Amino acid sequence: MKLKLQFNEKYIDKYVTSQEITNEILKNKQLFEDSYQCKYGDVDRKGWFVVDNNANDSMLAKIKQVARKIAKQAEVLVVIGIGGSNRGSLAAVECFKYDHPDCPEIIWAGNNLSATALQRVFDKIGGRSVAIDVIAKDFRTIEPGLTFRMFRQYLKQRYGDKYVDRVTVCGSVTHDNLKEMADKYGYTFLPFPEEVGGRYCMLTPVGLLPAAVAGIDIDKLVESARKTEQLLKSMPIDKNPAVRYAVARNLLFRKGFQVESMVVFEPELEHFARWWLQEFGETEGKIQECIYPDYYCFSEDLHAIGQYVQQGRRFIMETYLKCFKPTKVVIPQSDEQDGFDYLNGMQYDKVNQAVYDGSFSAHYNDGVPCMEFVCPEPTEELLGELYYFFLFAVYMSANYIHVNPFNQDGVENYKRNMYKILKK
Ligand code: PA5
Repeated sequence: MKLKLQFNEKYIDKYVTSQEITNEILKNKQLFEDSYQCKYGDVDRKGWFVVDNNANDSMLAKIKQVARKIAKQAEVLVVIGIGGSNRGSLAAVECFKYDHPDCPEIIWAGNNLSATALQRVFDKIGGRSVAIDVIAKDFRTIEPGLTFRMFRQYLKQRYGDKYVDRVTVCGSVTHDNLKEMADKYGYTFLPFPEEVGGRYCMLTPVGLLPAAVAGIDIDKLVESARKTEQLLKSMPIDKNPAVRYAVARNLLFRKGFQVESMVVFEPELEHFARWWLQEFGETEGKIQECIYPDYYCFSEDLHAIGQYVQQGRRFIMETYLKCFKPTKVVIPQSDEQDGFDYLNGMQYDKVNQAVYDGSFSAHYNDGVPCMEFVCPEPTEELLGELYYFFLFAVYMSANYIHVNPFNQDGVENYKRNMYKILKK
């Protein structure tokens, strides 16, 4: 059994060689072996490390049962949540949403406090039947909290007392107002596992419910994540691509490459890149000596920030996700003279792949270290693998640079200021 993705570290060789990566891993052998045992970080946040803890067969059955109920009653599911708590499912839904036109449309809310954006959500729903899924590990977060209140008012106006049938909440089982509200008012409740932090929650009911409602086969996705877990945990540390990637990026950082950009070529993978950004940014961004994660969508960004990458300051490394959605689209002949006849009859996909090869080599040749994850086309199996792979990798990377992989205390600062202003 092998991973579907292949990590290619060859094109960082001008700055960091494969031998250096291996040496560095072996120098930190104990740290990585301990990380394989999940010995670092708060004891009460390690639930994600074993997929089966929160996505076992009985939990999957429960999630699918709730998903079926929602799909039966609603044309639209509004998912109310923010940050790590919703980006995983957003990535999966955006990747596959055109494959399941008969499933409810998923609309995202509660991730900002713009009244205009909220109004647009109501407008977008229009006359369609609707259900909501409120996600909050800590229900004090004002963005989802307030959005939930606005939606209760909206649902009551549309459905009267029966609105409760259309509300699912994913919250902590203990010490959380959401659970109390669910018990008191009769909302459907799914657990936001106590021992899993927001950005580690994709492979739990939190991430899997919206995916299931959108028609994604969560059994396949989870099964693949499980297999990835087994594989990654059984590989020798210096052969483990997640460990090699974690070390490679940090060795590049020490050589002056302070920004790492994930690069995608399929717009439907943009939200996966945003999930990756969330994982690395919120996990590692707690000390001065850490990588700033970013992402680009090419071709679009080649005509914008691509100029900077090509000739601007050399402090950017790129991590290419070589992952394409194959089609049968062929470039037709044209009666008009538009100058593109040299492409007649070519598969459209080939042009995108040429952009990939062209930008990769242009950047590499001009001194940008380029890492690459070569993947087959996106499927549930691939996504399951990618989720577990990058969760494992970010955990390895955070341990390697000695930051707590699970907290995000800095986020509280804006909240404290905001509460002061609001309570004046
Ligand atoms: O990773 C995290 O823990 C955060 O990004 C949270 O998910 C985010 O702040 C939202 O928190 P909550 O679900 O408690 O509203």
